[in-house]
Amino acid sequence: MKRVSWQTRFGFYLAAIGSACGLGNLWRFPFVAGENGGGAFVLLYLLFAFIIGLPILIAELMIGRKFRKSVFAATIELSKHSSYPLHWVGRVAVVFTLIILAYYAVISGWVLHFLTQFIASGFSQRASPSPLQHLIQNGWLQVGLASVHLLVAVVVVVKGVQDGLEKWIGYMMPLFAVLLVILVLNSLSLDSSAPALRFLLYPNFSQLTYSSMLNAIGHVFFTLSVGFGTMVTFGSYLSDKNHIPSAGVRVAAVDSFISILAGLLIFPIVLAGTALRLSDPYLLFEALPRFLLQMPGGIAFAITFFLCLYIAALGASIGLLEVIVSNMIDRQKMDRKIAAWLAGVSALVLAVIPALSSTVFENIRIGGRGVLETLDGVLINWVLPLVALGLCLSFTYGMSEKDKEDLFVDPEKIESVSLYPYWKFAIRWLVPGAITVAFALEITGLILG
Ligand code: PHE
Repeated sequence: MKRVSWQTRFGFYLAAIGSACGLGNLWRFPFVAGENGGGAFVLLYLLFAFIIGLPILIAELMIGRKFRKSVFAATIELSKHSSYPLHWVGRVAVVFTLIILAYYAVISGWVLHFLTQFIASGFSQRASPSPLQHLIQNGWLQVGLASVHLLVAVVVVVKGVQDGLEKWIGYMMPLFAVLLVILVLNSLSLDSSAPALRFLLYPNFSQLTYSSMLNAIGHVFFTLSVGFGTMVTFGSYLSDKNHIPSAGVRVAAVDSFISILAGLLIFPIVLAGTALRLSDPYLLFEALPRFLLQMPGGIAFAITFFLCLYIAALGASIGLLEVIVSNMIDRQKMDRKIAAWLAGVSALVLAVIPALSSTVFENIRIGGRGVLETLDGVLINWVLPLVALGLCLSFTYGMSEKDKEDLFVDPEKIESVSLYPYWKFAIRWLVPGAITVAFALEITGLILG
């Protein structure tokens, strides 16, 4: 392995789970579930996580492991075995990753804002009210926070202080899980927990719309970090001893579990007398700070929670940045430092658009949605499934049957022998079929208005 980068010395699970679990679970999952009517959507999401997201996650890991390269270079290898121009998929995936990094940096900036607010009010011994609107109305503050976030991510990737970060993430993740469980127990003790549980867990299929299937698929890819090439990069550092499908199942299971916990945490709080729209993209940031502050020891809880959330967001951002950087190193033979700075600065320039969504671009509304919401919808519900589909097809047509079987089947794991035909079916037919049906439904909905 020629690259020495953070994944090499990082435990695979720490890296893959650290990249998968992030703002997608805590921030995005609740409002997307809210937007799509709750229980039936949650069921759809869980189903797709395992029958659509997981097969591609496994395929991406396999591409990485087979070629020991990042996504662009790996798709060039795949296109050598096929008459299709598959390398385009890798190229598009890298550009897409940069755009998502920019968007992600803005939301991470929100987390940073709350974290610093809580720390400041902890020192001054006063509990501050939710400063969200203040932040939303200050676009340049959001640009500033996004740049701080990108700076931290770039420094980590350049300096190779990954060992330190590994320890941080290693400590933070279990702490975060414990904290989440404590908070969920607290939130479930609210009177609103019964309607919240019903909303989240009872599948009322009449709530689904023409868009629900595409929304579920898009979110599954986003939350599992699939369709970006991140898992290709992680797979390229996976040791030969690791059984790829088992690794994939664990990542998907932990990620889905965290999302459900996030739903259990947020909905009782939101339904307990707030007037928030369940599909509000600010849901987490509107609901949680107030709830945390009114708990005994609130400020300490708030600081710890937002610190964990920030580390989770940083882990995911570093995963995104590393995809871009490792591709620039592979293809352009660029120096790691230059590549990281270039990627960071480019992401910052792009981040200006979502950051100024509620101020400079306030009057731009598309179908009743602002710039931030529109970007979120277009990038994650439309572009991401298409890129993921491209990666899936590259894998299907560019990897030999023998390689697929060798990488999937471990004779010592009997279930891998029996699951192999199902996984092959999923990759070849189910995934492309489901993505096509989801787009057809979405377009039908748009036509019928
Ligand atoms: N999966 C991350 C989340 O849910 C987002 C992400 C996507 C991170 C792709 C890295 C790569 O927050």
